[in-house]
Amino acid sequence: MGDTRPTSDFHARNFSTADLARMVAALDTQDAAQGVRRLRAWTQTALDPRPGERVIDVGSGTGSQTLALAAAVAPSGEALGVEANPALREVAEQRAAAAGSPARFLDGDALALPVPDATVDVVWCERVLQHLSEPDKAVGEIARVLRPGGRVALLDSDWGTALLHPGDPEAVAALTAGVLSVAANPYSGRRLAGQLTGAGLVIDDQGSQALIQDNTTVAWPLVHMLGDSTVRRGLMTEAQRDRLYADLAEAAEHGALHMSVTMFAVVAHRPA
Ligand SMILES: C[S@@+](CC[C@H](N)C(=O)[O-])C[C@H]1O[C@@H](n2cnc3c(N)ncnc32)[C@H](O)[C@@H]1O
Repeated sequence: MGDTRPTSDFHARNFSTADLARMVAALDTQDAAQGVRRLRAWTQTALDPRPGERVIDVGSGTGSQTLALAAAVAPSGEALGVEANPALREVAEQRAAAAGSPARFLDGDALALPVPDATVDVVWCERVLQHLSEPDKAVGEIARVLRPGGRVALLDSDWGTALLHPGDPEAVAALTAGVLSVAANPYSGRRLAGQLTGAGLVIDDQGSQALIQDNTTVAWPLVHMLGDSTVRRGLMTEAQRDRLYADLAEAAEHGALHMSVTMFAVVAHRPA
């Protein structure tokens, strides 16, 4: 759970070098997570981007999935990452150049995609909607740019599924409830299908994977952030919090820790 948590400061414009390095490291850790890799593989098979197609990756981050999509539509297709954070867009461009990938990147907003109507064959949008206070508007933009018959994959976590074990159930419930305040749209995962049908698209398939934290390492920065805020809000005493920390630390020593959040993917198309 720790390395996959939503970070609302993705929107920040004035990044320090240290902020950028921290964010890139977090995204790289997520790229390497089994749950992310498995869900991406399942989704890419279901979405089936083909040579010659035009693809956009909305909220492309460091561009890892944009590069995978560019390879799938090569040699005659094109893949464009649209990213709100210019510092991340630059990282993606540097990585594409280093990898010899034809993927391109643009500064842009998911709420106003810099792409004309009905010109895109395939859209990918992964773990972006959870950060938006107007996610329906972003899905409406995706529907706008898709050509008739075009396909889309939305992938997102649902922070209502966060699990933490072991510990006193009341203390765990109070602490995991705090995770819901971290993202603008924390229940994004369960909302994806309804957002797509609401935008006039037809659902083709749905999949999921839990993002499971290493069972020997407590994600202390996240746990401390949540624990401290739970105590501040009067939902848990300091003694309960410290007991929970001790239970988690002890479980981790025996490989008995469980921290996870479930991520969902929905594939849909625009009717011809
Ligand atoms: C958790 S990261 C996911 C990055 C990438 N999709 C991936 O799966 O590795 C969320 C990304 O969404 C971008 N983002 C947030 N709000 C956005 C917006 N309104 N328009 C475009 N991108 C946005 C962030 O800058 C960040 O790169």
